[in-house]
Amino acid sequence: MAEFESFIRDKFFPLYRAHYALWVHWWPWWREKVSGRNILRQWDDVGLVEEGQTFLDYGCGTGSFTLPAARIVGKQGKVYALDCFPRQLEIVARKSREEGLDNIETILAADWTGLSDESVDIIWMCDVLHEIVDRRAVLVELHRVLKKDGRLVVYDGMRDKILGYADGLFSCVLRQEKLYEFAKRDIAK
Ligand SMILES: C[S@@+](CC[C@H](N)C(=O)[O-])C[C@H]1O[C@@H](n2cnc3c(N)ncnc32)[C@H](O)[C@@H]1O
Repeated sequence: MAEFESFIRDKFFPLYRAHYALWVHWWPWWREKVSGRNILRQWDDVGLVEEGQTFLDYGCGTGSFTLPAARIVGKQGKVYALDCFPRQLEIVARKSREEGLDNIETILAADWTGLSDESVDIIWMCDVLHEIVDRRAVLVELHRVLKKDGRLVVYDGMRDKILGYADGLFSCVLRQEKLYEFAKRDIAK
């Protein structure tokens, strides 16, 4: 299945890039005005973000969740906005400049973060996991950077399939529609 997925992705890569070129125009509008509002309500329900935390928005897109997180964590906190497409990160950087938020750092990367071990309180992955080819490798990297008592929160239409990829690394502690919260498990090195 993974081989088939990478075959399709490689064959259609120009189309895939074009999809993202369009995506930066219509998706942020939809995210910020409609779907994102419900998701942010779910953040409140589960008490996701607090002042002073370190927050990683993995696959941040154009920052529909990066900026709300940066407002909440405040000056004592830090938000890392990671994406594999430079265009998305340019938009995040522009929006944070316009809002005067200086606690956001962008990271251009795919499948790794470059962050220190156990340095992040919250990892947020919204509608990203299904797009990643080597999901297990990414989750191993996220396990490395998450603090022992940190929270990995995945919002994705893959729903219970997420559990298979997280098996042995994280324990699912909450499921609420498409939102899955995980706690880090101790693994032998
Ligand atoms: C559907 S968008 C979601 C964006 C944002 N999380 C949101 O919900 O508005 C998926 C994002 O994940 C990024 N992405 C896909 N695969 C990735 C990978 N392996 N590493 C980092 N980012 C990735 C894409 O570039 C895109 O910006």
